[in-house]
Amino acid sequence: MDVARQIDAMVRALPVAVVAVDRRARVIAANDAARRLLGPDPLDRPFVTLLRNPGVNQAIDRVLAPGHLAASASDPGPGGNGGALTMRAAIGAGSSGREPYFDVTVAPLPATLGGGALVTLIDTAPVEGAEQIRRDFVANVSHELRTPLTALIGFIETLRGPARNDAAARDRFLDIMERETHRMNRLVSDLLSLSRVESGERLRPVARVDLAVLLGGVATTLGPAAEKAGVRIELDTGDAPAWIPGDQDQLTQVFQNIIENAIKYGGSGGWVGIALREITHEPMLRGPAYSIEIADRGEGIDAIHLPRLTERFYRVDTHRSREKGGTGLGLAIVKHIVARHRGRLRIHSERGQGSRFTIVLPQASAAQPPAG
Ligand SMILES: Nc1ncnc2c1ncn2[C@@H]1O[C@H](COP(=O)(O)OP(=O)(O)OP(=O)(O)O)[C@@H](O)[C@H]1O
Ligand SMILES: [Mg+2]
Repeated sequence: MDVARQIDAMVRALPVAVVAVDRRARVIAANDAARRLLGPDPLDRPFVTLLRNPGVNQAIDRVLAPGHLAASASDPGPGGNGGALTMRAAIGAGSSGREPYFDVTVAPLPATLGGGALVTLIDTAPVEGAEQIRRDFVANVSHELRTPLTALIGFIETLRGPARNDAAARDRFLDIMERETHRMNRLVSDLLSLSRVESGERLRPVARVDLAVLLGGVATTLGPAAEKAGVRIELDTGDAPAWIPGDQDQLTQVFQNIIENAIKYGGSGGWVGIALREITHEPMLRGPAYSIEIADRGEGIDAIHLPRLTERFYRVDTHRSREKGGTGLGLAIVKHIVARHRGRLRIHSERGQGSRFTIVLPQASAAQPPAG
């Protein structure tokens, strides 16, 4: 294979955008990712006409300058990078309106490959996206903790000052303080629960759970709350047991949250239905499954909220959810637990029509060899 073909094959084998240039900075090879970024027809053109970024073009000039490779080859130690130069550069206009940044590396090619250089462009958006999510998360947690803390500080001051000798006010304030501390406590345990579920998400559950019994238990636990809210729970699980590979505590958490939500936010309809059905073949899961549908006749959820409902801290009405003691982490935890069970969560709702949360769970874990 001649050198040009060798370089072309090498460039095409790389999973990120790569352009090879010759000693005069003309493009001699570019893979598909690079063509998508810099244009469909880059061959034989001077690199500077593809990308007018002074930093990157200066780096190419430096790397191609006579003596650069020899100078960097004498770099001592394993930290030497073969004379490559790295920088961050804004390239093109992002569809989101934000300038997309790339980590650009210019590395010299050895003389046996004709000299020249390899220019690698790596999109920083995925990393920056993850960093943004982390920052948002920390900001959300801080905000959620600060609200009850501010209330507590305020009441402590009042109890020390104006309300010092007012027994009735003291009792009322202590009640509120108790409620706020419980809320902080719930927030912290939900956060711990979320991180535990996330870190164990790849471990498939090995125990076996009867969904019919589990749903009966959750309905009983939530009976008093439903009664208080004037909601009748209708449970239809059939007579047969419904075994699946599952984690008892986690699945209890899933149904507790969804049924509790139906009572809390959909309770105005006065009814919550829980229906368990066997599915002999669920195409999405490629096998037999159970579906559990939890429906209410409450006010429903606007379609614009549906895709974001399982995000951490996302609430349709933050004030109302807080009032009801919610942290907005319930459905985020549900999503991760369902994923760990290789199941699916679907949400149907329309304003004024009530909501329906459907969970589909496979009857056998995919790792299990088929019987027989
Ligand atoms: N059945 C429902 N009807 C109407 N809105 C709902 C229903 N279920 C959930 N929601 C909306 O989805 C939001 C997110 O629910 P999620 O369970 O994640 O949080 P939460 O109930 O507010 O807090 P937590 O579950 O942590 O106590 C709720 O705040 C509510 O606005
Ligand atoms: Mg909830």
